[in-house]
Amino acid sequence: MTTPQTTVLPEGMSACIVIEADVAAERLSDVRRACQQLADILQRHRTRQPEAQLGLGVGFAASLWPQLRHDAAEGAELKPFRALGGGLAPATQHDIAIHIQSLNPGANMQLALDVLAAFGDAIQVADETHGFRLYEKRGYDGFVDGTENPTGAARLQYGVIAAPAADAGGSYLLLQKYRHDLKRWDALDDARQSAIVGRSKADDEELPGDERLPDSHLGRVDLKENGQGLKILRQSLPYGTASGERGLMFIAYCARLHNIEQQLLSMFGETDGQTDLLLSNISTAISGSYYFVPSQERLADLR
Ligand code: HEM
Repeated sequence: MTTPQTTVLPEGMSACIVIEADVAAERLSDVRRACQQLADILQRHRTRQPEAQLGLGVGFAASLWPQLRHDAAEGAELKPFRALGGGLAPATQHDIAIHIQSLNPGANMQLALDVLAAFGDAIQVADETHGFRLYEKRGYDGFVDGTENPTGAARLQYGVIAAPAADAGGSYLLLQKYRHDLKRWDALDDARQSAIVGRSKADDEELPGDERLPDSHLGRVDLKENGQGLKILRQSLPYGTASGERGLMFIAYCARLHNIEQQLLSMFGETDGQTDLLLSNISTAISGSYYFVPSQERLADLR
């Protein structure tokens, strides 16, 4: 059995909690024990609030995963996130990631409390970010986010490692938080903003090549390799407070870390020295980390 964890495939979720934490080496057996309880904890919350469509994904960093997997072929692409673009994308790698998402922020909160209670003081939380869907699935930047995400059966193909691989049912995960400078962005007119993103703001249509700037966001991330699109599954949501920092909690799953990494290298100037125009006009990356999110069966049976 190779069932993906329940945050990878669902579409259209509207609220999330992302927690990154560290684990002391001597607490590894407590982490294993906590992971064995997670399926029951999730099921209890799902039964109580089925309409929320709760999902829970737990991922492990390269610092931890080799001690938890059964076979070196599981999550073999995993590595620590490294800073990119001379620090434009900082590395803030932690040991463990907990991703909760659903249609109901309150349900997320109740599940998060029980998940953290299961881990107890075996983990030290380093960051907790709450995300939520805004009007018409638009970010604070005013653009619809998620339009070109794979849908239906393509999600399994791009998002989840296929059988008969040793790590079938697993996925790689990128967590990267972006703080927005909205004063700067809002000073640009819609035509300029659309050229920077590569899609029209009002009707969310892809711009023809000659209206799209080469270093537009789409220009940097809509990549092909040997004629095949390097697709990823984005579960990102806006985060922030009304009086303070606001931005995008970028969350992406993929069956290959390679696809995610190629997009990052392209955005942050590591392929040809050119950087994504979003970075100079609105968004600053303030975190970055990679995790392997094993199948539900492996999560319940860590070595
Ligand atoms: C500053 C943070 C970011 C913002 C505000 C942002 C926003 C957007 C928007 C508005 C779109 C167009 C609509 C859509 O298809 O979803 C888009 C597309 C996309 N973004 Fe981002 N994004 C950000 C970061 C990233 C990162 C870090 C990656 C990859 C590691 C990425 C990968 C993609 C991909 C693959 C597409 C679809 C391209 C296509 O096939 O047309 N984005 N993004």
